[in-house]
Amino acid sequence: LRTVNVGLIGLGTVGGGVARTILSHHDRYLDAYNIDLQIARACGLVWEQAEAVGITPEQFTSDWHDVVSDENVDIVVELIGGEHPAAEIYEAAFAAGKHVVTANKALLGRHVEAFARTAREHGVQLKCEASCGGGIPIVSTLERDLVGNEILTIAGILNGTTNYILSRMEAEGADYADVLADAQAKGYAEADPSADVDGFDAASKTAILASIGFSSRVTTDDVYQQGIRTITAEDISVAHDLGYTIKLLGIARNTAEGVDVRVHPTMIPLDHQLAKVSGAMNAVYVVGDAVGETMFYGAGAGSFPTASAVVGDILTLSEQISRGVAPLPESEPFSRNKPIRSMDE
Ligand code: HSE
Repeated sequence: LRTVNVGLIGLGTVGGGVARTILSHHDRYLDAYNIDLQIARACGLVWEQAEAVGITPEQFTSDWHDVVSDENVDIVVELIGGEHPAAEIYEAAFAAGKHVVTANKALLGRHVEAFARTAREHGVQLKCEASCGGGIPIVSTLERDLVGNEILTIAGILNGTTNYILSRMEAEGADYADVLADAQAKGYAEADPSADVDGFDAASKTAILASIGFSSRVTTDDVYQQGIRTITAEDISVAHDLGYTIKLLGIARNTAEGVDVRVHPTMIPLDHQLAKVSGAMNAVYVVGDAVGETMFYGAGAGSFPTASAVVGDILTLSEQISRGVAPLPESEPFSRNKPIRSMDE
């Protein structure tokens, strides 16, 4: 039996789901993996937020430094999003020899390679399954299960808000603005929904998946971005008559000339599996040179689906901690340095 202590930073939609999942599944993890998974510290904005998800007064703090400096904490789980203070939390956690698990697509879209390198220098790991595709196990699939392949293409519906909007526009001829308000009310949209509708959120996720899938450095700034603001219900209807639907796709292609990464509304033949993904769901289509075509589907946002991915990372690390395995790969992360192709090529 090994006790693994988690330090949770952020008790909002995702952090609250993680706290609840860990507390409600404690005995299952003990029986199945012999791991006594504990929340040692939990940082939230206000006590009421923590109390609502089962955190005790002894565990609670409103200062993230208390979590990172707690010597019992083995794994720091950052679920506050945004670039700051998330970046400072990672630096402090790595320097203290703690692993980091996060869902932070905005920060990792820009710096996944740099943080993975810093983690490695300190003998710890950075894990980010929940940053792309919510509950869909796509990061670990690219990192581990498909590692025998040269990954050729990754094409994903990676933003639930825009897929929800486009699906409702297609089904009902609904107006863009009305449907956006509905997506916000349902809790899929980012605090600033321009991150969703202008393609930035999908670009961050595309950069992370391309970095991992192609073992190369790709950042959000490399990704050509076009959002869905200008798409009308009529565009979708005309596309439909021609045998297509319109989806906001994140597309990463690994070519002989370099990596091509883009996010834009894309005409997809109605008989393609990606065309059938409706509502706030996500899906990722991956082509590997050995495996051929694969497709991964699931909830791309929401409290428990995202918590599923976060807790998966926590348990993977917990198992390694409890076995005392040195988990680090020999090679430098993302070291292939493939050139990024511009849109003109
Ligand atoms: N705003 C995001 C989406 C949340 O709509 O997919 C999950 O990253």
